Amino acid sequence: MCQEQTKQFKQIKGKRLAFLGAGNMGSALIQGIIGNKLVAAVDIWVTDVEQQRLQYLSDNYGINIASNNQAAVSQADVIVLAVKPQQLGSLLDEIASAVDDSKLIISIAAGITLSYLQSHLGDTTRIIRVMPNMPALVGAGMTALCVGSAAQPDDLRLAEDVFRCVGEVSIVKENLMDAVTGLSGSGPAYIMVVIEALADAGVKLGLPRDTALKLTTQTVLGAAQLLKEKGVHPAQLRDMVASPGGTTIAGLFALDQGGLRAALIEAVEAATRRSKELGQ
Ligand SMILES: NC(=O)c1ccc[n+]([C@@H]2O[C@H](COP(=O)([O-])OP(=O)(O)OC[C@H]3O[C@@H](n4cnc5c(N)ncnc54)[C@H](OP(=O)(O)O)[C@@H]3O)[C@@H](O)[C@H]2O)c1
Repeated sequence: MCQEQTKQFKQIKGKRLAFLGAGNMGSALIQGIIGNKLVAAVDIWVTDVEQQRLQYLSDNYGINIASNNQAAVSQADVIVLAVKPQQLGSLLDEIASAVDDSKLIISIAAGITLSYLQSHLGDTTRIIRVMPNMPALVGAGMTALCVGSAAQPDDLRLAEDVFRCVGEVSIVKENLMDAVTGLSGSGPAYIMVVIEALADAGVKLGLPRDTALKLTTQTVLGAAQLLKEKGVHPAQLRDMVASPGGTTIAGLFALDQGGLRAALIEAVEAATRRSKELGQ
């Protein structure tokens, strides 16, 4: 771990964590935290309905299996709620009596608002609401955080520590969480469609399927990495490839004619609208 990272991660040192739900996202976070040596395995408790999943995590990472959700909450300073949104209501009712103001609650349940969480756990409970995305499963996630009214600045820094283990983090106001859901939450699915279409084009033009997919995947990854490292506007890098009268400008013109930009903007708007509807 580099020195900069060590500084960023200092807030979480010495804390005891509980993960309620150890599915895709809960497991990814546990792996990220253990892999980055942020918290010792003995200081992590986990619960899930699936006993096999718990046993796997305990055997491979040495973390503790809690006997139930209340017991996990009692053991921990920081509780990560990582069950499906529709499972959250009953979970909150189950743990409410074990939650007090000494504990920080981090919810990753999509669409579940701070006011809903606060209404179950109390107005003085310190809560952070989080929207991660699927690439967190390979440590390349994008997570947005927003802060409940009782949460302290150190709570936010701690939550940043946790999600930096599985990628990048941004802080937003809660009223922008639906837009986050429409963009980075749903975004990996849009990019999969783009990748699939580009690979299909390669196959249409005679490339073997596996070669076409490899060319496409690395092109998308490389373009994103270049943009991130250069920190410039994407149009600057696009113009570097599009030489006058060349191949790329011909392709870009076809993309404009096909309405790719408008389709992507409409996709993010549609997903944001749907997120708002589901949150009501
Ligand atoms: N996966 C993503 O890409 C992604 C992205 C953004 C946000 N999120 C959010 O992250 C949360 C978790 O998603 P996920 O994909 O990790 O879901 P998941 O794989 O279904 O994991 C949830 C786990 O919690 C278990 N569970 C259910 N009720 C429980 C209870 N009362 N106590 C303890 N464990 C319980 C579930 O068991 P059963 O399967 O037996 O019910 C399951 O193993 C969701 O709220 C979702 O909105 C996920």
